[in-house]
Amino acid sequence: MHKERVLVTGGGGYIGSVLVRMLLREGYRVRILDRFIFGIEPIADILNDPNLDVVIGDIRNVEDVKKSLKKVDHVVHLAAIVGDPACSVQADVAVETNFLSTIRLARLARDNGIKKFIFASTCSVYGASGDKIIDEKSPTNPVSLYAETKLDAEKELLALLDKKPSLTILRFGTAYGLSPRMRFDLVINYLTKKALIDKEIKIFGGEQWRPFVHVHDISRAIKVVVEADDDIVKGEIFNVGATKENYRMKEIGDIIKGIIPGTNVEIVKQIQDKRSYNVSFMKIESKLGFKNEKTVKDGIVEIKDAIENSIIEDPDDDRYYNHKRG
Ligand SMILES: NC(=O)c1ccc[n+]([C@@H]2O[C@H](COP(=O)([O-])OP(=O)(O)OC[C@H]3O[C@@H](n4cnc5c(N)ncnc54)[C@H](O)[C@@H]3O)[C@@H](O)[C@H]2O)c1
Repeated sequence: MHKERVLVTGGGGYIGSVLVRMLLREGYRVRILDRFIFGIEPIADILNDPNLDVVIGDIRNVEDVKKSLKKVDHVVHLAAIVGDPACSVQADVAVETNFLSTIRLARLARDNGIKKFIFASTCSVYGASGDKIIDEKSPTNPVSLYAETKLDAEKELLALLDKKPSLTILRFGTAYGLSPRMRFDLVINYLTKKALIDKEIKIFGGEQWRPFVHVHDISRAIKVVVEADDDIVKGEIFNVGATKENYRMKEIGDIIKGIIPGTNVEIVKQIQDKRSYNVSFMKIESKLGFKNEKTVKDGIVEIKDAIENSIIEDPDDDRYYNHKRG
């Protein structure tokens, strides 16, 4: 028996291409709406799946959105211009995509009677928050256009979807790990690649905190919310990650050196990264029973193996870097 149909916007992306496969394995019907900025290869091998259909289109285009929403039970909204560098090189497109089109998509989804709307936000909305542990109720302090567009969308969605559908905002930690749509602009993936190829990595600042979460665990968390009782998730914000997986960036250098011996780790103290957030993931654990299955160490090992075994042939290819494609 088929389960419900889930529309995954950005389903061809780094998180989307892992999530879509997970949902299909679980028997869901899945529709992807994506403009495939980085190509369609990440989902090429599943295009024939009878439970998958793909709309090659743009969330900024009303007709594409209306077509995608037909006979959909839930929307997982991942499509965005992702990351600080990608948003600063195309600021107008970032605001149009991450904010304006997100709100219009939500309004059309509501008018189409969908049940759940799950919005991909980011822990970078906490921005410059220093050393203290922060949770979903803590003040936000975004320090980039990317984080601002996500926070503005969160606020507007909470006001717009106050009754129906059931809105859940997920603030993901910084992702890492292997995906069919690989990204080497994410710091764990990037530093692992750099250590392997150049035998040296630079860490700017070093004292700043960052919460990390494997792309597989992000996908699991989304599925948990799709399947959760509305009473628990409706109108809620959840940080997605694991409290033990907060690291100071200088610790990441030590972990990489432990896995890739001979790496020269340079801590560049003169250049500070204002972004520092040490995040609590107690809420998702206590309310939804969500626990991570993978750690940063697992991610570094799997990326190292993928590069060493030429599963990823050229990690410097432009398509693995969000700010190099528009
Ligand atoms: N990867 C992370 O560390 C991370 C952390 C926190 C939050 N997030 C959020 O998760 C979501 C997915 O991130 P990702 O890492 O998979 O990024 P990604 O860049 O790999 O994927 C984004 C996808 O959206 C598509 N897209 C972009 N603009 C579109 C448009 N106008 N219409 C249709 N499709 C469009 C792209 O083609 C791409 O396939 C984003 O909303 C991002 O903000 C990611």
